[in-house]
Amino acid sequence: MDLPDTPAADHARALADLARVNRVTLTHRPVLRWLDAATRDLPRGTALSVLDVASGHGDLLRAIHRWGVARDLRLSLAGLDLSARSIAQAQAATPADMAIAWHTGDVFGHTPIPPADLIVTCQFAHHLDDVQVVALLRWLERHARRGWFVADLHRHAVPYYGFRLLARLMRWHRIVRIDGTISIARGFRRAEWRALLARAGIVAEIRWRAMFRLCVGRLK
Ligand SMILES: C[S@@+](CC[C@H](N)C(=O)[O-])C[C@H]1O[C@@H](n2cnc3c(N)ncnc32)[C@H](O)[C@@H]1O
Repeated sequence: MDLPDTPAADHARALADLARVNRVTLTHRPVLRWLDAATRDLPRGTALSVLDVASGHGDLLRAIHRWGVARDLRLSLAGLDLSARSIAQAQAATPADMAIAWHTGDVFGHTPIPPADLIVTCQFAHHLDDVQVVALLRWLERHARRGWFVADLHRHAVPYYGFRLLARLMRWHRIVRIDGTISIARGFRRAEWRALLARAGIVAEIRWRAMFRLCVGRLK
């Protein structure tokens, strides 16, 4: 989907379908649950900045916005994504009254990124090789003032075959069907996260969550 020669219409439809996949497979739930825990002791009205790295269609940030309103926090939200097309679609899908700042840029590059209390990233790590995952963990550790959370996939036969079936039933875009299956095959096992954290020199919590999510996070 992220290949530059993917036609704009296919990219738009696939990205919108990815947001549907996220809804049906409860992709955001572990992130919102972590945010709940991370902010449990904060009084109502506290100001808090949250950055979503590799924000895609922006659906996670919109869910965080709704969560923040319900939690009565004064959130300042930002999304960063390498793809200018994704940022444009995220912007277009975001209601005008949801104040979210969108930045096009490479998390590994020199894009100036606004500092944030909490940084989350969802369904991104499995796109990276091990060296990049270690770099991402170190980057998160350096940039997040209060904590960070990586939500990703648990590599396992159940979601691998289950997703193929679900994607056919739901008639999701061919790119989403193919990318989704590849993504699950590129997901993680707990021992792999342990090794990656050790290489990064970081101690963090690894948590399995429903729908075969394997998440890593740390509160400072
Ligand atoms: C599978 S999508 C995940 C999107 C969204 N987080 C979600 O859960 O639906 C991966 C995203 O990572 C973005 N991406 C890839 N490499 C990146 C980089 N180096 N810096 C920032 N974003 C990147 C892609 O443009 C794409 O939008």
